[in-house]
Amino acid sequence: MFSYDTTDNTNVNITKIDNKFIAMTETPIPIEYDPETLDTIGVLRYDDKLLGNLTTAHPHYDHNTNESFNYLTHFSRNSKYNVYSITAGKTRNLIASIEAKTPSYMHSFGLTEHYIVLVEFPLVVNSLDLLLSGRPFIENFKWRPEQGTKFTLINRLDGKVVGIYSSEPFFAFHHINAFEVDNKVVIDMITYKDNNIINSLYLDVLRGNDPMDIPVSQYRRFTIGLDDGSVGYKIMHEGLELPRINYQLNTRNYNFLYAVGMSSVTSFTYRLVKIDVQTGDSVSWTEQNCQPGEPVFVPRHGAKVEDDGVVLSVVLDPNSGKSFLLVLDSKSFKEIARASVPHHIPFGIHGQYYGDEVT
Ligand SMILES: [Fe+2]
Repeated sequence: MFSYDTTDNTNVNITKIDNKFIAMTETPIPIEYDPETLDTIGVLRYDDKLLGNLTTAHPHYDHNTNESFNYLTHFSRNSKYNVYSITAGKTRNLIASIEAKTPSYMHSFGLTEHYIVLVEFPLVVNSLDLLLSGRPFIENFKWRPEQGTKFTLINRLDGKVVGIYSSEPFFAFHHINAFEVDNKVVIDMITYKDNNIINSLYLDVLRGNDPMDIPVSQYRRFTIGLDDGSVGYKIMHEGLELPRINYQLNTRNYNFLYAVGMSSVTSFTYRLVKIDVQTGDSVSWTEQNCQPGEPVFVPRHGAKVEDDGVVLSVVLDPNSGKSFLLVLDSKSFKEIARASVPHHIPFGIHGQYYGDEVT
């Protein structure tokens, strides 16, 4: 029997809720931990009764309004996306409850100054299949390219759906940023042409003698015209994953993207990349055989320009069988320091910096 309540393996991301440190996954069971000792404290219970079985480990935060946002997919005969915000404490405020006949697997979403952006890829599930199939969660989702991909814009203030816009089918895990300009909404994502990326990441496939080629991603900039309902996109770069920005610029136009570079055949990740979004120029960091993790940008205290700070990445070094924390100057993308540990650290997925200010 399928149950959403059986895993507390919250290894996807961390955040803060009600000033508490939280580890998260896609089941809506946030686990509080002690930031000093990393000891598990326990499940954080919300002060509300919002319904849902699936969430994202990519909540958004608006630095201008001090609100955080996320949504829950509630699977039932009448499945819904319950979109909510948290302004303080542990109470989630329902913004919108949107009908989803066959809910889509969405790993993240977009946020602009006025809108929440749900991008529903045609990787969809029948709720009954989830309950009855007994198969692993993601294997219940079916690729239905004929449905295309659907962008739903939700007004943050009143929860009204401003518009639903369709495009060709594609899949993505990660939104990068979204913002509004000239009555258009710009949405940046790391995309794949279909859902094969999920199949290629199964451990037995990766470990097998004949691993699949990992599909090459495209960093795409989608533009939705609010006047005419048009949806178009531009390919900005290829072969990237785990994208990060200076998160102070979330919901606003930005100039720099940090990401890992993915090799399509030989290795999982092989370089860190900084991209100038305006010019397309890029610089990268590599070290032979090393496999870097997600680059986390940390602004310098009092920084006046977007890329003034450092980039942190936990790097797996198969040469020594150990890992190290790499610190890059985010302007030059040159190494400032590294801190090695006497063992390897298995690949993490996402991380955040909550330490002292960088001076
Ligand atoms: Fe993610």
